[in-house]
Amino acid sequence: MRIIIRDNSKEGSLWAAHYIAAKIKEKAARTSEPFVLGLPTGSTPLGTYAEFIRMVKAGELSFKNVITFNMDEYVALPREHPESYWSFMHHNLFDHIDIKKENVHILNGNAPDLAAECAAYEKAIVAAGGIDLFLGGVGEDGHIAFNEPFSSLSSRTRVVTLTQDTLEVNSRFFGGDPNAVPKQAMTVGVGTVLDSKEVLILAFGSKKARALQAAIEGPMSHYCTLSGLQNHPAGTIVCDEDSIGEVKVSSYRYFKAVEAAEK
Ligand code: GLP
Repeated sequence: MRIIIRDNSKEGSLWAAHYIAAKIKEKAARTSEPFVLGLPTGSTPLGTYAEFIRMVKAGELSFKNVITFNMDEYVALPREHPESYWSFMHHNLFDHIDIKKENVHILNGNAPDLAAECAAYEKAIVAAGGIDLFLGGVGEDGHIAFNEPFSSLSSRTRVVTLTQDTLEVNSRFFGGDPNAVPKQAMTVGVGTVLDSKEVLILAFGSKKARALQAAIEGPMSHYCTLSGLQNHPAGTIVCDEDSIGEVKVSSYRYFKAVEAAEK
């Protein structure tokens, strides 16, 4: 697992945006096949999305040959609800870049048959050629996408029940009321994410420090689903000084030494 430590979330967000942009351009230079990008919601990726938008507007990057798959969506929240992940992605990214509408994939939390919707999502990822890079965030309890503690590390796209902790953390988007947060969500599985050719996780701020310590130094465990990244051949965590703050000093020094050696 590669750990990139930046001074703050702004620097980390820019690093991720430029890294992904380089990957998109690198694939475009060698093939006409689309770049398949997995995307998260949450406050964490906002700086990276803002930089994508800036780059597209400046003519430095194009999403015309990019296919996206979002990680998750609430169940039974109307698509147009301001807090649906569909709304979030359109307001914060898709409405401002040159992506083709038909290339955007977001789970439909209002599908008549949710299990069939999940199975079709997995098939659509395979049909697109698999995910080149899955960008993700992490919950305070170490969850990746909506794979709450005790999700199998080989789980696939499915409906899940959110923990009380997640309902409380996400209540900030629902007037501070945990009861207003949908209790279920659809999410790609840990296995779905780990099947990607590359996984890039963003984690900023001290609230994520315990999750990162567990995922990086702890055992691979369904209690902290981000720890599944330990088993991925190309997994990277982009963090800041606050979010890396709970790992051992020796681990921190080693990550810094690796980065310095690669420069
Ligand atoms: C939700 C999302 C996750 C996201 C997490 C952290 O649980 N399902 O994909 O990583 O929130 O959100 P934030 O980036 O706002 O801290």
